[in-house]
Amino acid sequence: MGLSLRKICKVKKTMSITAIRGFNDILPARSRLFSHMESEARRFFSLYGFDEIRLPILEKTELFKRTIGDTTDIVEKQMYTFSDLKGESLTLRPEATAPVARAFIENKLYTSPVTKLFYCGPMFRYERPQKGRYRQFHQIGAEVMGEDSPLSDAETIEMLWSYLKELGIESLELEINSLGCGECRPAFKESLTGFLSNKSDLLCDNCQRRIEKNPLRALDCKSAHCKDATAKAPSTLDFLCTSCVEHFDFLKEALGRMEVPATVNTRMVRGLDYYTKTAFEITTNEGLGAQNAVAAGGRYDSLIKDLGGPEVPCFGFAIGVERLSLVVDEAVVPDNPLIVFIAMGEEAERHASKSQGPVAALRRNQASVLVDFSRGNLKSRMKRADRLKASYVLILGEDELKDGTITLKDMNSGEQARIDVEEAIIRLTDGSLQEARL
Ligand code: HAM
Repeated sequence: MGLSLRKICKVKKTMSITAIRGFNDILPARSRLFSHMESEARRFFSLYGFDEIRLPILEKTELFKRTIGDTTDIVEKQMYTFSDLKGESLTLRPEATAPVARAFIENKLYTSPVTKLFYCGPMFRYERPQKGRYRQFHQIGAEVMGEDSPLSDAETIEMLWSYLKELGIESLELEINSLGCGECRPAFKESLTGFLSNKSDLLCDNCQRRIEKNPLRALDCKSAHCKDATAKAPSTLDFLCTSCVEHFDFLKEALGRMEVPATVNTRMVRGLDYYTKTAFEITTNEGLGAQNAVAAGGRYDSLIKDLGGPEVPCFGFAIGVERLSLVVDEAVVPDNPLIVFIAMGEEAERHASKSQGPVAALRRNQASVLVDFSRGNLKSRMKRADRLKASYVLILGEDELKDGTITLKDMNSGEQARIDVEEAIIRLTDGSLQEARL
């Protein structure tokens, strides 16, 4: 017996498969914006000497445990980790600094005095999805390897700042801090541990558990109780050694010279353990709510050595592409107006697909042409072009074929004229496509 329509619908509904929570399709309008942000980064960062690196998405789990830190939120509860068929533990990269460091050592990139690398791509963290926070998200990042000067920190922050400004984001705030180094951090940690132990019963479970191993995390815990309890906690800046003080002072001075306004926030400690000295975050108040950090980074002078490489000081950052795409105006993306080409009849169709025909000529001149292969009447094909949001329609019919003309319709003004094919191509491709009018 046949199924009733209602039953068919029900069956279809149960069979439809949706994307995984926190994993999003990036549809064309957003994708155009992503591509624009990536190509602008590629262009702009190259002006500062950066080259692109493309890295695997999967790495050995150990890489992230050893670099990001065993007691960080990322490693404790946000990694997509599984065993492969041979039982090796692998992890979808939650960030790319550790993979860049691994690639730097493995490929002996340290033979060059300075290596400046940038990357674009997806990262994965099992976080609670909300606006601006996803489980698969994208970063554009940059890492400078082999420079220990605070001027390098300042120049890299200035590059990021100028890039964000170029994308048209106005309300940016830069917060900086110094987390000290192997020399001075232990004294700060000890003092903070003592302070937190006295307040232990006022802290959340997570912070209580981390008092001994990772007390710094308590300083940027989001819980209101922890914020209150740690309001008078010792400041990292009070414990910096001379070298770290000098580094931080130089950085502030250089940022001032570069006209990049920075505020010192001594509670900003970052969620990854590899930082030394400079740490920073850039936020925007353009409607991102709680997830308002669009970029963050800092210095990590011991990471390469900790991973078995030579001693190489490093500095870097990563931008959250989804967050940025929520605050960048889509209008910044250069538009290539769509031309729909309608060939009426078989001869016109043949003409349209010739290698020297009008469609190929338009494309050779960078115009974006969608050939309408449907075979309805002109009226229905014009309606189709309208639904495709064409800016222009070119119609090649029997009459046009006879005298070497083509009909060009401007879909915005509604104006239409039959003109020489060559003239149509010139009008549509003379570099002022948007202004081309009949
Ligand atoms: P991070 O602060 O973990 O640093 O991430 C950098 C940026 O990625 C954040 O400021 C945010 O814009 C974005 N982001 C992070 N998690 C998510 C998420 N779940 N959904 C959407 N966007 C997110 C790092 O990843 C370091 N590797 C940065 C770095 C490079 N430090 C030195 N070099």
